[in-house]
Amino acid sequence: MVEISTSILSVEKGNEAETFMLLEKSKTDYFHIDVMDGKFVKKDTYQQMREYSEYIKRISNLPLDIHLMVEDIDTAVEVFSAVEPNIITFHLEACKSKEEVMKNIQEIKEKGSRVGIAIKPETPVEDVYEYLPYIHMCLIMTVEPGKGGQTLITDMLSKIKRLKEYIEKENIEIDIEVDGGINLKTAPRVKEAGANILVAGTAILKAVDYKVIIDELKE
Ligand code: DX5
Ligand code: ZN
Repeated sequence: MVEISTSILSVEKGNEAETFMLLEKSKTDYFHIDVMDGKFVKKDTYQQMREYSEYIKRISNLPLDIHLMVEDIDTAVEVFSAVEPNIITFHLEACKSKEEVMKNIQEIKEKGSRVGIAIKPETPVEDVYEYLPYIHMCLIMTVEPGKGGQTLITDMLSKIKRLKEYIEKENIEIDIEVDGGINLKTAPRVKEAGANILVAGTAILKAVDYKVIIDELKE
């Protein structure tokens, strides 16, 4: 059974209360918080995602799945640890050295969250192998990070498969999360490739009934 992490990137200001409540009732497993700093990616969602996660923290016990698309990971870890997220994921491409990656992993753990590392479509999956024993999740971006509503890059299916084969061969216990362009058509393909946590924003938020789409994505 896969888990669903609903991206709240495109939740309209003003509808957030009702939307978050509906998503909770519809049994999303996580809220996926897309933090963008306007530097690592063009869009800047920092303030809005901070407000939304503080609000969700107040009204829901569902776990927060923080996806940092930022250059200054230290500051973002400080800021978003305040909402006691279940997991904080940072981008390998935002780190300048192995030491920096290891420091980020340690800092996030010290804050009491699980740790994820995300890689962009053009980053080889082999680049993350050395960190897998120290983290809880690997996020394979199936679109270029920076906005919702894009089409899944099908080349990523073999990347997910390679990662799955590697962690099985090495006996590493780790979640594989995929993010971007996940819908009823692409979900079966990423699941078959080995993903066990699916992020979806557009496919869920544009649906008439969140519960129906979340159940179908989970199947
Ligand atoms: C993109 C974000 C994704 C995105 C997913 O940079 O990391 O989480 O919001 O949105 P959809 O499901 O619309 O592709
Ligand atoms: Zn995301």
